[in-house]
Amino acid sequence: MSQHRPPAGINPAIPNVARMYDYYLGGKDNFEADREAAERVLALVPEIREGAVATRAFLRRAVRELRKLGVDQFVDIGSGLPTAGHVHEAVGDAKVVYVDNDPVVLTHSRALLRDSDRVWVQLGDLRKPEELMEQVLEVLDPGRPMAVLVVSVLHFVTDEEDPEGIMRRLRDRLPAGGYLVLSHVAPDARPSVAPDVEAVYQRASSPFIARRRPAFERFTAGLELLEPGIVNIMEWRPEEDPVHVPYRGIGDYHLCAVGRKPA
Ligand SMILES: C[S@@+](CC[C@H](N)C(=O)[O-])C[C@H]1O[C@@H](n2cnc3c(N)ncnc32)[C@H](O)[C@@H]1O
Repeated sequence: MSQHRPPAGINPAIPNVARMYDYYLGGKDNFEADREAAERVLALVPEIREGAVATRAFLRRAVRELRKLGVDQFVDIGSGLPTAGHVHEAVGDAKVVYVDNDPVVLTHSRALLRDSDRVWVQLGDLRKPEELMEQVLEVLDPGRPMAVLVVSVLHFVTDEEDPEGIMRRLRDRLPAGGYLVLSHVAPDARPSVAPDVEAVYQRASSPFIARRRPAFERFTAGLELLEPGIVNIMEWRPEEDPVHVPYRGIGDYHLCAVGRKPA
């Protein structure tokens, strides 16, 4: 992207969290400001690149496990740029709706997925769960098993924006028997530099807030959690898709859970 003129309405001078994440994952859909901000985070937390790869691996394992339970519709909120290992590549012929609030993600995802008749890309905001789910249910069937993914995105919602209330409202809109897949960065990877990392994101398109386990537990309230419950991303059914995670064994660094809304 760096060689091309940016699409209309996109400001390449402001570091963008989706493009920074793309840079961590080794993608090319990023501008100079994104790379500079990402490099500052990498200097503070060199393992973040492997952490991003591990997050994608968790996401793939979770959707494969849900496929085994008969889920054939997936909503991926805060989907990010459609780089390697995205949901639609892991779910066979199931339907996938990608939702992101970033117009860059929308443009790139649509270009990549143009010819697909089982994958949709929508502009939507996690902070407006009613509107988002209404839009999603225009293409998905509320009568069929469904899973909503909120992977590595809730930490871009501030306390003032009420992440707990957002998760409750999202769960209320999910058809009964549906599943939620959640992950959220916690501060134990490098507690001493967490404020410096947050400071880099303060100047980006979204702030970033690492949160501890009690907050994560509240985000999953009202769900029946699948085994093994709330764990670090590497510890959620790692058998199938093991990846190296440098944070292993040092506490809560990136929590995740998969839960079912009771029927
Ligand atoms: C770190 S990436 C995660 C990508 C993907 N879920 C994964 O785990 O690989 C976070 C994504 O969330 C998006 N995002 C941030 N705030 C959002 C919001 N309020 N609503 C929807 N998407 C949001 C960003 O644009 C970015 O693409």
